[in-house]
Amino acid sequence: MSDPTIDTRPAFGTLYGVGVGPGDPELMTLKAARIISTCPVIAYLSADGKPGLARAIAAAHITSAQLELVIDMPMRTAREPGETAYDKAAARIVEHLRAGADVTFLCEGDPLFFGSFMYLLERLQPFVPIEIVPGVTSPMAAAARAKLPLCARDDVFTTLPATLADADLMRHLPQANGVVIMKLGRHLPRIRALLARIGLLETATYVERASMEGETIVPLSALPADHPAPYFSLILISQTSVAAKHQASAL
Ligand SMILES: C[S@@+](CC[C@H](N)C(=O)[O-])C[C@H]1O[C@@H](n2cnc3c(N)ncnc32)[C@H](O)[C@@H]1O
Repeated sequence: MSDPTIDTRPAFGTLYGVGVGPGDPELMTLKAARIISTCPVIAYLSADGKPGLARAIAAAHITSAQLELVIDMPMRTAREPGETAYDKAAARIVEHLRAGADVTFLCEGDPLFFGSFMYLLERLQPFVPIEIVPGVTSPMAAAARAKLPLCARDDVFTTLPATLADADLMRHLPQANGVVIMKLGRHLPRIRALLARIGLLETATYVERASMEGETIVPLSALPADHPAPYFSLILISQTSVAAKHQASAL
């Protein structure tokens, strides 16, 4: 007869929030690749029935022996119904963890930089073991592909979502040496007009699908005015002291 004082339930599995990088599968860390290929359950977001980019980036490390936990996420700006979807996702993930299985949640770029993993972290952190594997972020990948220094010495580097109102953007833009403006989408024409108004258009570079097929890197001033910015696009503004020094010495 088993000893009733001994807890025979399996130990909780670990939830891994894994950054898979910005698009090029070779920009994934060795640690991310190892965890993805050895974890029995792989979870990721899907919108309108289509798996997100994170699943595609990690594809080479996933086999049919692993269970794929597809989490449908309505892609809207409003917090609901996303909040409910994350509640349900957290509950589904906990079922596997409670049974002792580790679960990997795939995130494009880095999990904690505008990453969906933070919504699971806030729900589950007090209750289950969690480990996070950082990933190469999209601004870093875009800067590398465009060969643009972002900041040096006493420079200030600022991250701004294009979803902010002009007045909020204006509170930060003039102070920064390096800037990334994320989540362009339908905001691109407004952002471009704002940068032109404050004299920053000529220092801005538009980067679409950095490190992926279909990558586009052009000075923002040369981008056709009607160019539709896809979800994976951003603007880099580079005015570092290093770039300034080289421009001066080239004269
Ligand atoms: C929800 S955020 C995710 C950011 C991601 N976690 C990261 O670490 O970069 C989505 C935004 O990131 C930017 N983005 C992500 N990947 C990109 C890429 N490969 N090229 C250009 N922009 C990208 C776009 O501005 C997009 O709207």
